Amino acid sequence: MLAPMPQARRAPESAPIPKHAARRLLAWYDASARELPWRERGGAPPDPYRVWLSEIMLQQTRVAAVVPYFAEFIRRWPTVEALAAAPLDEVLAAWAGLGYYARARNLHACARRVAGELGGKFPATEEGLCALPGIGPYTAAAIAAIAFGARAAAVDGNVLRVIARLFAVEEPLPAAKPRLAALAKALTPATRPGDYAQAIMDLGATLCAPRDPDCGACPWRGICAARARGIAARLPVRAAKRTRPIRRGIAFWAQRGDGAVLLRRRPDSGLLGGMMEIPSTPWRAEPWELDEALDAAPLASRWRLLPGTVGHDFTHFRLELAVAAGRAREARKVPGEWCALDELSARALPTLMRKVTRHALASLA
Ligand code: ADE
Repeated sequence: MLAPMPQARRAPESAPIPKHAARRLLAWYDASARELPWRERGGAPPDPYRVWLSEIMLQQTRVAAVVPYFAEFIRRWPTVEALAAAPLDEVLAAWAGLGYYARARNLHACARRVAGELGGKFPATEEGLCALPGIGPYTAAAIAAIAFGARAAAVDGNVLRVIARLFAVEEPLPAAKPRLAALAKALTPATRPGDYAQAIMDLGATLCAPRDPDCGACPWRGICAARARGIAARLPVRAAKRTRPIRRGIAFWAQRGDGAVLLRRRPDSGLLGGMMEIPSTPWRAEPWELDEALDAAPLASRWRLLPGTVGHDFTHFRLELAVAAGRAREARKVPGEWCALDELSARALPTLMRKVTRHALASLA
């Protein structure tokens, strides 16, 4: 007879909350918080606008990448009213490079709602915040805790890892998420919940790293169940992931004699909505032959394929774009906009299109 499959050991549903966990973490945070431009020090009350702006930028983006963008946005638009009054195109151009452009559109829409209907005041509750464009449960909890002192638990990937280790939860993600979120909430203190939220984020981003946790330096080293069992580095367990499908297309790098390049605007809804792009074929699974791609070319030219491709990972697929280069006559009218080469960097070009630009310029140099 076959031996029964070993079952993953589960933390009990009502795992005891370790005593003084929050106090220990806050003491560590007081001594070693990362200095970040949106964090108030010296007891000044947090500005909800800065907290909101930083949290939107930090969605799916690393702290180091966000810092210069945050500084530039605050310099140009120091208040929610200033951001609401800015043209959307300027906001999109300033956002270029941060990725996930729907965030920038929602950021602008949210600023308009707050500056208009809400009289310049952000809602102070998770529920009120969640009703605004671009604010999901994680961001609502982070803003409610950090800006308004609500006892809310912001649970992202880093926090899930910290909690899975603290309680030695071996059930794989994503199934374990509700349990881990409930444990995270139970741990959150009523005093200083905003500092606590940022402390647990910092712990996950520094000592409680995915691969090589520095358990010896951790403020929770004495109470961490995974450390006690020597399994911290292999938690959390993740269910096997499907690989990302590949889509392919050909982008058309059309250049006039004066060097200007043809751009067009993508439809407002959908991927990279409203951003400028180098025109391309639709993106699909099968590879394109240049001949059949010509139906999608923005103008007639002697198109020739440049060597190599441009790769870019979106959340749900990987894109591989070949680039065809062609000359255009000055006088010809085509749908789109001609953009001088030295003005390309000021346009709201998403990272993918910057890669296409670099690839074309390098091949044609
Ligand atoms: N990630 C998301 N929000 C954050 C914050 N306020 N501080 C550090 N990392 C974060």
